Amino acid sequence: MTAEPQPQCALVIGASSGIGAACVTELVRRGYRVAAVARREDRLDSLRDAAPQQVRTYVHDVTEFNTVPARFSEIVDDLGGLSMVIYAAGVMPKIDVDTYDFTKDKKVIDVNLLGCIAWLNQAAPFFQKQGAGSIVGISSIAGDRGRIGYPVYNTSKAAMNTYLEALRNRLSRHGVSVTTIKPGYVATAMTEGMEGLFWVAKAEQAARAIVTAGERGKPTRYVLRRWALVGLVIRCIPSFIFRRMNV
Ligand SMILES: NC(=O)c1ccc[n+]([C@@H]2O[C@H](COP(=O)([O-])OP(=O)(O)OC[C@H]3O[C@@H](n4cnc5c(N)ncnc54)[C@H](OP(=O)(O)O)[C@@H]3O)[C@@H](O)[C@H]2O)c1
Repeated sequence: MTAEPQPQCALVIGASSGIGAACVTELVRRGYRVAAVARREDRLDSLRDAAPQQVRTYVHDVTEFNTVPARFSEIVDDLGGLSMVIYAAGVMPKIDVDTYDFTKDKKVIDVNLLGCIAWLNQAAPFFQKQGAGSIVGISSIAGDRGRIGYPVYNTSKAAMNTYLEALRNRLSRHGVSVTTIKPGYVATAMTEGMEGLFWVAKAEQAARAIVTAGERGKPTRYVLRRWALVGLVIRCIPSFIFRRMNV
């Protein structure tokens, strides 16, 4: 007699809205048991109520770094294992081109970068020991260059890219994949009200691409794919020209 295959288990940090929430829904659709982590309990409750057998919720602020190890262990115990972690938590406070606001900047680094490191530093040794697993970080095409609009958001995503690449180089030899997701524009609260956006993906569309890239262990995935070409061109533009482009 063959044993029933166990459902896969995933953890999504920054799960209460936008891309993270859509990833929870997509993972549920694919049969995963999912731990959904964020601060807004009501949003998490809605996700759980849509699939109570598969979704567990955890109210957590990623800037409470010291609580992450205990939270991670609790989630692995509750789910009964772990095969994928998606770090989707992120903020991009509105600023104008003359703003230099350290309080806002620190928040961006705390949530986008340090929260990511706090959580993935737990996932990495867990998956290494297990000899399998998939880590997915939602970065941004905005990390490819320093731009005038959101300097510290760019910085947080550039640092995230380097951290994820280093994790990939460490963990690939242990059977663990690390995927850097670089979305272009996605229709979420983060982009609401912004003007001049184009090639805007739906969160559901982004989530399908993200979960598939994680399952396939892709190193990098732009969403939509056409942004990869834009990213390549942007990275190749010499600094003295990029500076004059007013982007
Ligand atoms: N939308 C785009 O066009 C776009 C493009 C490129 C990259 N991205 C990236 O995609 C990721 C998801 O963003 P989104 O567009 O889906 O925006 P969103 O709807 O605003 O989602 C942001 C998520 O981050 C969570 N979060 C923020 N601060 C947190 C904290 N201190 N502790 C725990 N969770 C926190 C939020 O949950 P709570 O507020 O409930 O805590 C929410 O679930 C971000 O990393 C963003 O930089 C987005």
